[in-house]
Amino acid sequence: MKSYRDLYSRFLQAHSGVQHFASHSHHYWPDVTFEAHQQYWLDSCTYVDDKWDYFFSKKVPQAQRLIADILNLSKPEQIVFAPNTHELCYRIFSCFPVNKKIRILTTDSEFYSFERQVVRFEESAGRVEVVRVATLPFHSFEERFAEEIQKHCFDLIFVSQVFFNSGVAIKGLATLISQIQNPDTLVVIDGYHGFMAVPTDLRGLENRIFYLAGSYKYAQGGEGCCFMASPAGNSFRPEYTGWFAGFDSLANFDKQVQYSDDGYRFAGSTMDFSALYRLIAALEKFKQEGLTVDLIHCYIQDLQKKFIQEVDGQDHMTVHSKNLLKKDLSYHGHFLTFQTKSPEECSRISLALRKNMIWTDYRGSRLRFGFGLYHDSNYDLSVLKRI
Ligand SMILES: Cc1ncc(COP(=O)(O)O)c(C=O)c1O
Repeated sequence: MKSYRDLYSRFLQAHSGVQHFASHSHHYWPDVTFEAHQQYWLDSCTYVDDKWDYFFSKKVPQAQRLIADILNLSKPEQIVFAPNTHELCYRIFSCFPVNKKIRILTTDSEFYSFERQVVRFEESAGRVEVVRVATLPFHSFEERFAEEIQKHCFDLIFVSQVFFNSGVAIKGLATLISQIQNPDTLVVIDGYHGFMAVPTDLRGLENRIFYLAGSYKYAQGGEGCCFMASPAGNSFRPEYTGWFAGFDSLANFDKQVQYSDDGYRFAGSTMDFSALYRLIAALEKFKQEGLTVDLIHCYIQDLQKKFIQEVDGQDHMTVHSKNLLKKDLSYHGHFLTFQTKSPEECSRISLALRKNMIWTDYRGSRLRFGFGLYHDSNYDLSVLKRI
């Protein structure tokens, strides 16, 4: 098995002896991000006030192109950057008039940035009406979700490409979306655990969906650089808007607030672009190394297979393949999730592993093991015999 560990020498050196199975949470950063971070400082020093022109004329288009290539999007300019996805989610909500009840179709497994916000809206009586489809049982999820799509007319459909609390991925995204009859339904795909992990081709969907993702995980640029691709030619006017969304009409508020014609209509305002530098460096490096998402995905699948064999060899009461949450491991996110008996058992196992230099994380009673290119398959999980 080829090793990519030399791309990560700094993080690996800092954690020698650690088996870091939390790549899905905080991915190690490749070494190239270190120079990129320094370059951000140097460019700030060189350009001072002019740095914003430089960022918007050079760095933003470069990042947009790299992302568009990965997702096979034809219009890179439809991609907008923001420090986090919550900001982008809220901007989407703000496209709806405040006095309108937003009818939402979603799942019971969306990340907190969305779910917490929606629950808060539910507290404000009349703001939203939500249908949540359970992701379990996984084998019938897509069918059940499609049934709900057909039953009602929704204003917003929000669903993850890969669910954060299981790693299960939606394989038939295009089929699911083709069920949506109402052209006014706003469709948002949370691709946070999909981007740079599972092969994704959005060409056929780019005029229909909003796709959210970020650099913190599999894109390996660290926190602070999330993005959203939106359909070209849309005329949404997010009420939650920042001055980056209308550079051409900055002080021109005479009639109506004007918006950029491209993805930047969903922009906020001043942000730290150092994460964008790191993201560009990581993506350029993968390109140079020929590390496509297909290849990365194959590598991780291999790791996951070997990991499952190794785990099953330990005869642990809970952490074994029978408790693995999955639908189709050939199209699954880059972490494996084991259903434990309770949150208490889950945290106990995770802590015991951590004491033995094995980093994992958990959500409730679900224990997650994430994989990255900085792993090879030389796992030592013998501690599972003792905990
Ligand atoms: C599915 C999913 N969406 C979004 C996020 C990040 O949200 P935010 O950028 O608002 O912190 C995460 C973080 O783990 C996630 O798992």
